[in-house]
Amino acid sequence: MNLPFAESYKIKMVETIKRSTREERERWIKEAKYNLFGLRSEQVYIDLLTDSGTGAMSDKQWSELMLGDESYAGASSYYKMKEAIQKILGYDYFLPTHQGRAAENVLFSVLIKEGNVVPGNSHFDTTKGHIEYRKAKAVDCTIDEAFHTEILHPFKGNIDVEKLESVLKSTPSEKIPFIIVTVTCNSSGGQPVSIENLKAIRKLADKYGKKIVFDAARFAENAYFIKLREKGYENKTIKEIVKEMFSYADIMTMSSKKDAIVNMGGFIAMRDIELHRQASVFNIMFEGYITYGGMSGRDMNALAQGLDEATEFDYLETRIKQIEYLGARLEEFGIPFQKPVGGHAIFVDAKKILPNLPEEQYVAQTLGVELYLEAGIRGVEIGTLLADRDPVTRENRYPALEFLRLAIPRRVYTNNHMDVIAVALKNVFDRRNEITKGFEIIYEAPIMRHFTVELKKL
Ligand code: F0G
Repeated sequence: MNLPFAESYKIKMVETIKRSTREERERWIKEAKYNLFGLRSEQVYIDLLTDSGTGAMSDKQWSELMLGDESYAGASSYYKMKEAIQKILGYDYFLPTHQGRAAENVLFSVLIKEGNVVPGNSHFDTTKGHIEYRKAKAVDCTIDEAFHTEILHPFKGNIDVEKLESVLKSTPSEKIPFIIVTVTCNSSGGQPVSIENLKAIRKLADKYGKKIVFDAARFAENAYFIKLREKGYENKTIKEIVKEMFSYADIMTMSSKKDAIVNMGGFIAMRDIELHRQASVFNIMFEGYITYGGMSGRDMNALAQGLDEATEFDYLETRIKQIEYLGARLEEFGIPFQKPVGGHAIFVDAKKILPNLPEEQYVAQTLGVELYLEAGIRGVEIGTLLADRDPVTRENRYPALEFLRLAIPRRVYTNNHMDVIAVALKNVFDRRNEITKGFEIIYEAPIMRHFTVELKKL
C-alpha cells in the first residue's frame, strides 16, 4: 500500500481559537457594519481573510529574530537579506520597505507620472490604487480564460500577448513606464504565469523598449505550479525555476508577508544602480534609511530565512496540497469556484451561487457574511466593493466575477479545519435560495473603500 501524504513539518507551538454561537456572531457582524474587516479576531473561529502576514514562522526563523542587528545603518541583517535576494532571486540592488504597498509607493514615485498607462495581468488592489492615485491607468491584459471559473487552464494568470501588444501599439511609448506581471496573479484566483508566457512578455517588452516589473508576493507558489504543469520543468528544483522566472524581469516589488513567511516586511529589488539611487530618495522619505526601510533588523533576518524555506519543494507541496484538499471537498459538494485551485486560496464563484441577487447588492460580500454567520469563518470579498468606483466617472465598477476568497494562511490550520470550512460552505450553499437580500453602502472611503466600508442589510 502506498503511504498517504502528510505535512512536511511538526508543530512546536499552538494558539487557542474559540467557536461562538450564531446569536453572538449576528450581534458582532452587525456591530462591524457587515464589514468582515471590522470584526475582532476573537470573534472569528477560522480566519481566511488573508494569507498575508498570517503564516507561522519556523523554528529557524524565530531563531533568526534573536540574531537581528538593530543598527540604524549597515546592519548585518540588511546584508543577510541582500545576500538572500542575490542568491535566490538574482538581483544586485534592493531596498527594504515595511510591506508590499510601501514598495509600490516608493517605486511608483520614481516611475509613474500622471496620464501613464500600466498594462499587466489583473493588478492587485493596492497596486491599482497606487497607479490610480497618481492619475495613471491600469490596463488588465489577463487571458480571457481567467474570467471563466469552469475552464481548466494550467496558467490562468497569463497575460494575453495580443491584448498587451495592442496596448503597447496604441499608446504613445513615453506614457508606458513598465509592464507589470503579478506572480501568482492574486486577483484572478492565485493563478500562475508560465515561463513560456514570461518569455513572450519579455520579447514584447524588448521590442517596445519597456521594463518589466514583477509583483512577486507569491513567486514561490508560481514556481511550484511551473514545476508541476510546464513541460521541461518537471526535473528542475524550485530554486532553479525561481532564478529563471526572475531573469525575465528588470525590477520586482514584494510583499514578504506571503512567500517569505514573515508577519511584516517587503522590498523592491532591481538590476539598475541608477534606479536604486532614485528610489532611495523616496525610501528615505517614506520608509526609513536605505539599510532598514521600515523593517527591524530581526525581521530582515527572518525574511532572509523565509525566502530560503519558501523555495523548497516540500514546503510548497504541503502548502498547495492543503488548498487542493479543500478544493476537492468543495467539488464533492458541487460548490463552484475558480478552477484549478490557486496557490494561496480558493476563490468561490459567488454569482453562480446567488445568481438572482442584483450586483448592486454586493453578491460576494453577502455570501461572505452568510459564511461568517454559519460557522465564524471569515473570508474576503473580491468583487464589486473591492473593484471600487471609476476614478473619473465615480460609477461603481462591476467586475466580471464576484469572488469570495478563502485565503489559507501558511502552516497554520490543519485539514480538519479545511473540513469545517467545506461543510460550513455546503450548509450555506444548501440554503442559497433563501438568501434573497444583500447590502447597501452607508459609508465609503474615496479610494480602496472595501477595507473600511460600512453596510446596511437590505
Ligand atoms: N501585491 C499582491 C499581489 C498582493 O497580494 C498584495 C497584498 C500586495 C501586493 C500588497 O502587499 O499587503 O504587504 O502591502 N495582498 C494581501 C491579500 C493584502 O490579502 O491578498 P502588502
